[in-house]
Amino acid sequence: MNQDNGILFTAKKIGNATIKNRFIRSATFENAASQDGSIGEEYIKIYERLSKGQVGLIITGMVYTSGEGKSYHRQAGLHSDEAIAGFAAMNDMVHQNGSKIFAQLCHGGRQSMALGWRPPAPSVGMIDLTYRIFPRSMNNREILSAIKTFASAAKRAQKAGFDGIQIHAAHGYLISEFLSPYFNRRSDEWGGSTEKRFNFLKRVYEAMREAVGSTYPITAKINIEDHTPKAGLTIKESVEHIKGLVDLGIDAIEISCGTLSFSMFNQSRGNVPVAALAKVMIRPLQPFARLFLKTVYPEKKFVFYEDYNLWACDDVKPLLNDTPLMLVGGLRSYESMEKIVREQKADFVSMCRPFIRQPMIVKNWSNGDIKQLTCNNCNNCFGFVPLDESIRCNLNRSF
Ligand SMILES: Cc1cc2nc3c(=O)[nH]c(=O)nc-3n(C[C@H](O)[C@H](O)[C@H](O)COP(=O)(O)O)c2cc1C
Repeated sequence: MNQDNGILFTAKKIGNATIKNRFIRSATFENAASQDGSIGEEYIKIYERLSKGQVGLIITGMVYTSGEGKSYHRQAGLHSDEAIAGFAAMNDMVHQNGSKIFAQLCHGGRQSMALGWRPPAPSVGMIDLTYRIFPRSMNNREILSAIKTFASAAKRAQKAGFDGIQIHAAHGYLISEFLSPYFNRRSDEWGGSTEKRFNFLKRVYEAMREAVGSTYPITAKINIEDHTPKAGLTIKESVEHIKGLVDLGIDAIEISCGTLSFSMFNQSRGNVPVAALAKVMIRPLQPFARLFLKTVYPEKKFVFYEDYNLWACDDVKPLLNDTPLMLVGGLRSYESMEKIVREQKADFVSMCRPFIRQPMIVKNWSNGDIKQLTCNNCNNCFGFVPLDESIRCNLNRSF
């Protein structure tokens, strides 16, 4: 496990960005911005640690592209030009520490705690108990306007010195909703067939590409399985969307799974932090909240096992030609990650929770220190979101 001999410590390009090693910090919502979406010391510290820890490519947590696409109260935004300066200062620091950084751009769609009772979505849906909302269907004008916000936010990200963009097309947020036959019940140009469900993402990509020029890296995180109560996106349809993205010229694909509304713990797997999630209910309701959460997320329903999205690489990798593939989901052992890259199952290994707990692990590995990852998938890090506190590891209060 040494910088000189491990394939994980070789550089590889994503578009025109050279990533110094194969480790990616998968997008991780920080819950550390101000209510107006601006970022400060609390947010920047997270990126200082990760870049000092020699993560090759850091992908920010989901950043909203417009007020209508905001999901969480303390989410960062690239919704206005005023946001550029704060991110620019952060990105300079990250670059000085030798890492690359991409902004993950997202419109929350129906998954929003910040917009009140009726957030915009492709189709009217059932009342959603996770977000406590009743989604409403977007009209054509709103859809076109949402596409424009992605392009404007991408341009701002470029101005702020981000090395590239990741389009958040996974986990049940707006783009993922358009891709999913479960959430998207439309029969106009935005739904009704695989091709039409892809139309929104296609138009987002095209608008962004026009805004940032032909060489700026644009990547996407996309589900290979939605895990919704009735059939949502499955690998069969997902590969068609991925082929579509490759034809458009996407610079890398990250594969993931799950939708937060129905299977938050299928996206990440492991324990359901029932006590932490129940804390946001008013005190007299907390026992009922616990009961409810235990029913919605029966413990062990979402069993954690290592590399749980690896199975899909065999379906996806052959479609990509030279376009890099990033794999996320339960990567926990150095040996396994090395095998994944050596056997060309994926080009990059991407992690979220291990970096919340051990932001310096890549640096340790590069020095030959064979420390193992110690994240135990307790998922208490999720529990800070409804409390409006910044994400951290509950096992180690020093972060
Ligand atoms: C606290 C927390 C915040 C997350 N925020 C995001 C996010 O903003 N965008 C995203 O695409 N995925 C997000 N995820 C999902 C992770 O990026 C990743 O796909 C998932 O946790 C599986 O990877 P892991 O086993 O390495 O944690 C988040 C996960 C956690 C635990």
